[in-house]
Amino acid sequence: MTQPYRPTLMVVKVGGSLFSDKREHRTLRQGVIEGFARQVADLADAAPGRVMLVSGGGSFGHAAVRSLNPDDPHATLPLTEANFALKWIWTRALRDRGAPAVPIQLAALCAFTAEGLEVEGGVVLRMLDAGLLPVLSGDSVVAPDGSLRILGSDRVPEAAVALWPGPVQVVALTDVAGILADGAAGSAVIEHVDADAPDAAYAAVWATAPWDTSRGMGGKLDAFVRIARAGADCHIVRGDPDATSLRHLLDAPETWPAALRGTRITCGRRAAGRASTR
Ligand SMILES: Nc1ncnc2c1ncn2[C@@H]1O[C@H](COP(=O)(O)OP(=O)(O)OP(=O)(O)O)[C@@H](O)[C@H]1O
Ligand SMILES: [Mg+2]
Repeated sequence: MTQPYRPTLMVVKVGGSLFSDKREHRTLRQGVIEGFARQVADLADAAPGRVMLVSGGGSFGHAAVRSLNPDDPHATLPLTEANFALKWIWTRALRDRGAPAVPIQLAALCAFTAEGLEVEGGVVLRMLDAGLLPVLSGDSVVAPDGSLRILGSDRVPEAAVALWPGPVQVVALTDVAGILADGAAGSAVIEHVDADAPDAAYAAVWATAPWDTSRGMGGKLDAFVRIARAGADCHIVRGDPDATSLRHLLDAPETWPAALRGTRITCGRRAAGRASTR
């Protein structure tokens, strides 16, 4: 059956770097969670059934998978529990603000296959059509050889692109203003990355500390180049827990306040098809 056309789905990822210290074990900045929950609840109120939240792993996810036994094909499983605890924290914070949040276990929707990620997202689509706000995170996902492998939070929006029969916009809120062009000391943000020519952006990424299992900005760029090639309009911007609102995300990105724009990653080949889809 062909799906009816739908307007843009907004996937907001809140980076773990914003609400926790990845070097620690399950510590949170509760005030920061509440600040972003307020903004995401308000966004979902403005666009019911068109918003999804993805939580970064932060001190929950990274701590669960830092030292894995290479002989155990299911060694990543504790990530499922750790990130579910995190999703529940977000769900409660969102519900406290009246948002119809529902935590979703990604491993029940996805599998790694030889061709890429297979997604069976029909139930999530039903939830969105019912006006719910899905809360997702990275997970421990089955691979072709039966082992479990990490699907990091930066890649979760790939599932949204696969299940949503309309345009998808991905906004990663993180602790920097975008991909900085001049290394750690610089402040110039790379405004646009063409997913078919990302070399300059990769050259700007600096090495990650060993305790960061998501490979920091390098991992995010890998994921977003892939997701942009699949058709999404991706953005990496600084998140501010005290910001009044995220409603500007519902307008065309060209009209967002300059200070809130960050780095946009799109695929040139797909730009024409996206122009009239909001
Ligand atoms: N060129 C670059 N521009 C900006 N940040 C960079 C760059 N190269 C590396 N980084 C690092 O990437 C970090 C952002 O990625 P990081 O994975 O820490 O955040 P996150 O994805 O929001 O958190 P989490 O992985 O817990 O969800 C920055 O804080 C910075 O240290
Ligand atoms: Mg990260």
